[in-house]
Amino acid sequence: MPINHLNQTWILETSTTAYALGINTDGLLAHSYWGCLLPRLEDYPPPPVREKWASFNNAAHLTPEEYPIPHGMKFTQPGIMVRFADGVRDLRVRFDSFEEQKGATPELSMHFQEEHYPVRLNLHYRLYETEDLIERWVSITNFGDDPIELQRILSTSWNFPSGDRYRLSHLTGKWNDEMHLHRELLTPGIKVLESRRLTTSHHHNPWFAIDEGNASEAQGRVWFGTLVWSGNWKIEAEVTDFDSTRVHIGLNDWDFAWQLKKGETFTTPPALAGFTTDGFGAASRKFHNHIRDHLIPHGNTPHQVLYNSWEATSFNVNETSQTELAEIAANIGVELFVVDDGWFHGRNDDRAGLGDWWPDEKKFPNGLTPLIKKVNDLGMDFGLWIEPEMVNPDSELYRSHPDWVIHFPNRPRSESRNQLILNLARTAVRDYLFTVIDNLLTTNDIRFIKWDMNRNVSEPGWPDAPGDPREIWVRYVEGLYDLWGKLRNKHPQVIWQSCSGGGGRADLGILRFADQIWVSDNTDATARLSIQEGFSQVFPAITMESWVTDVGKDLLPLEFRFHVSMCGALGIGAHLAHWSEDEQKEAAKHIADYKKIRQIIQFGDQYRLLPTKNDGLTAIQYLSKDKYEGLLFVFRTFLPDPINPQRVFPRGLNQNAIYKMDVEPKPRSGKAWMETGLQFDLENFQSSMRYFHKIN
Ligand code: DGJ
Repeated sequence: MPINHLNQTWILETSTTAYALGINTDGLLAHSYWGCLLPRLEDYPPPPVREKWASFNNAAHLTPEEYPIPHGMKFTQPGIMVRFADGVRDLRVRFDSFEEQKGATPELSMHFQEEHYPVRLNLHYRLYETEDLIERWVSITNFGDDPIELQRILSTSWNFPSGDRYRLSHLTGKWNDEMHLHRELLTPGIKVLESRRLTTSHHHNPWFAIDEGNASEAQGRVWFGTLVWSGNWKIEAEVTDFDSTRVHIGLNDWDFAWQLKKGETFTTPPALAGFTTDGFGAASRKFHNHIRDHLIPHGNTPHQVLYNSWEATSFNVNETSQTELAEIAANIGVELFVVDDGWFHGRNDDRAGLGDWWPDEKKFPNGLTPLIKKVNDLGMDFGLWIEPEMVNPDSELYRSHPDWVIHFPNRPRSESRNQLILNLARTAVRDYLFTVIDNLLTTNDIRFIKWDMNRNVSEPGWPDAPGDPREIWVRYVEGLYDLWGKLRNKHPQVIWQSCSGGGGRADLGILRFADQIWVSDNTDATARLSIQEGFSQVFPAITMESWVTDVGKDLLPLEFRFHVSMCGALGIGAHLAHWSEDEQKEAAKHIADYKKIRQIIQFGDQYRLLPTKNDGLTAIQYLSKDKYEGLLFVFRTFLPDPINPQRVFPRGLNQNAIYKMDVEPKPRSGKAWMETGLQFDLENFQSSMRYFHKIN
């Protein structure tokens, strides 16, 4: 049974893991277990109760609370903080009831009643049994007449077995250099990771993994999680003075406030997490499966090979420049031709035009239709770039509605890339954007949209907000989801890509709307190797758009650049007209190869065999779900000679099946390949792709 209930304890079971909680004898909802599935329900520990230890700590302080509620004497991190109308800032809740919902993704809701005020707090759980994942979120309803101020409301606290040797893995970076993996031991205190930028950010990603300091890619106990949200977020990894380790995750409480009025409910975004004994690789694959099977709108459709003209023509977009590129793109096998920035009204550089989403009259005197027709006649679909959330002060939109941007009165409006942010919390703004983008998609045959967002917030004001203006942090993101959702529903034929100057909005929240993420503006293939590896901790290859460009071409062979991009959804971003005939021919061959194997990459399991930190030799494997066929990609960056390259050991193969590996003369059993590995003798900046398949 996925959800089991025994005397005020609840045991949530997935295919290989279990999570247990219960009301302890002090009346607190305590966490009691998260780990491997145990044979009998009686095997799970009861909800813990800890004795009061000293006058400096009360008993509740010592107990791993399922969702820490701040009342009495507690100094650990709370899940929630409220202020009642009479000034009371203390929340006391008592367990009231629970409900269970059966189905493909079973749910448990637990209801708690405030002891004095007419307020109900609900903890929600949803199980994804096959992927061993648990989703948690919280809602709170005000049944009283007076508003309540929410000052902090996280989605969840995840508790780990008592101990003080936990290691935190997380992803950090910056624009053009996202998604670097860090691992560090947690020590008493709080490690904070967050975004205050209105979007998820290039700087940290709302993902964590916790292990006992000894997990590897292939083995070890790992707890891992993320937040399904695209705005300000916070992770607090806390080790208490009693060696209790928790990860709190949810909306950032920095500058957060929410007026919960009579009859209203506030619901947090979901937090998703899982447990595995099979190391970081298995943790990633569980998220990959979940994202593909439950989140992205077109999880069963392979991505087309696309061409994007941004690095070739920048803002110099017109029918002639794009047709020249489209003809070559079609010749080498591209399936989708995407026109990036520069096509719309008044857009000749980044100083003007954002907001005016109709074709520039000088560049496209007859609209986009003639170009789209040419692209379609060449056998390709057509895609377009937009940046709906932004406006240049030099635009017709801003001249008509200067009050639509996020701003404080009596303060300058700080521009970044000469642009300001439209306040998507406002209905009028969303209505305008829906109308113009809907019109664009209705009057043109557009099959792909790259949705960009090229700055972070400043002066986060909302002068005529109906409630507390600080609600903007949440209402903006809800507005974005509302707008994107309506456009998606009206135009289901469109594949959407989430871009925010590269990977500034890479999260599970946006992947309910977008099928792909533009991971980084950095298209140097060697830099890309580690950015892509960081990305793969959370996201599957199908969501990773990756272009072959001219960056680093003097050092990096075209094949190397192709191999790096073939590890995701392949795209080309180079100036094709500058490629020689030989280069075009070689590109055509790689594209044809990719089309044959993309099923394995986009829908298979990914294994990070040799991580990029491995001194210049990186190896990645993709294996079809039925273990019938797979691919090995190996990259050598710079390694001073002489070297004796490490062997590459495939993983996940069917042990007794016989596999034939490209180039290698002799077929061998899966077990033999995995135990003895392969040697790749590569030169500096050389790469190799090997296909293998079962022969029995
Ligand atoms: C930032 C994106 O990441 C680039 O790929 C490109 O679309 C530019 N914006 C266009 O302004």
